[in-house]
Amino acid sequence: MGNTYRIGVIPGDGTGPEVVAQGLKVLGAAAARSGFSYELITYDIGGERYLRTGETLPNSVLGELRELHAIYLGAIGHPEVQPGILEQGILLRTRFALDQYINLRPVILYPGVWTPLRDKKPEDINFMVVRENTEGLYAGCGGFVKKHTPDEVAVQESVNTRKGVERCIRYAFDLCRRQQRRKVTLCGKTNVLTYAFDLWERTFQHVAREFADVETDYAHVDALCMWMVKNPEWFDVIVTDNLFGDIITDLGAVIQGGMGIAAGGNINPHGVSMFEPIGGSAPKYTGKDMINPMAAIAALAMLLENLGEKDASRLVENAIKQVVRDDLQSMDAGRMGHTTAEVGDLVVKYITEN
Ligand code: IPM
Ligand code: MN
Repeated sequence: MGNTYRIGVIPGDGTGPEVVAQGLKVLGAAAARSGFSYELITYDIGGERYLRTGETLPNSVLGELRELHAIYLGAIGHPEVQPGILEQGILLRTRFALDQYINLRPVILYPGVWTPLRDKKPEDINFMVVRENTEGLYAGCGGFVKKHTPDEVAVQESVNTRKGVERCIRYAFDLCRRQQRRKVTLCGKTNVLTYAFDLWERTFQHVAREFADVETDYAHVDALCMWMVKNPEWFDVIVTDNLFGDIITDLGAVIQGGMGIAAGGNINPHGVSMFEPIGGSAPKYTGKDMINPMAAIAALAMLLENLGEKDASRLVENAIKQVVRDDLQSMDAGRMGHTTAEVGDLVVKYITEN
């Protein structure tokens, strides 16, 4: 008998519930094949609950999330809720409260998936972005002076702690070694952000000494954006701060085939981690059975890997590869040649048959 996992499910807003439903079908198939079991605890957190009750993430729910083995998130974001409330109240609050200090975002072009980079192939686009997930400009440090007057001032400071930076960089080096990759690139802005990235650079050098087998590199974030388009094959593992990581992973998503396929994990290596498709709630496709669930299914594969169910994770990943290569006409909503539910069924079919 395999392990039993308690998995929290937050379907959330917009297309979140539709894509999560496909991911859960896949979870069922993977569990049946691999012999683990699980209990799902579903939370109705999101825009609808906020509009109904004014609550974002109640403390009682946060307390329950702490006791789980993993969290599976669909999407957070509602057109009738002012921007920032749900993002900060739910997504960022969970990341911070559960100390999910790594945001791991693979940028991998699977065979058969269209990339806007004309001359690039799957062997050219295969790297991991390790984004710091609890500090930087996201820390909420700053404030207003003389707000709503002609003299108003807004200050928003980037918080970089030695501990926070070091654990993030160490995770990147460990990952590089674990995945038998070659090189870790620090992405910063040492020419302008001379305090924050001075700390990052010194810490990077310090940690690098423990990993003599791993090559190191540095790129300013602006140049790195250029190279991600021109020479993505240069990258293997990129480590960076919260905001730069946010920005470069949208660019990463588009070169790997778009939001339909891009997944990420908010990881606390010693606690509870949360996995999500990175594309958002896509209100205009809600309820139409048109959205691509592959990103959510890829997030599920990451969740399984994180639980230690490596075989199950590999099964799901291989099924994803097979579907995107053989069955999908496009990664874009409405152009896949299949409905959302059919894509989930295809993944299940290959897991069951393989
Ligand atoms: C992401 C998103 C979030 C972020 C938003 C929704 C707060 O863009 O997960 O990348 O900025 O981290
Ligand atoms: Mn983002």
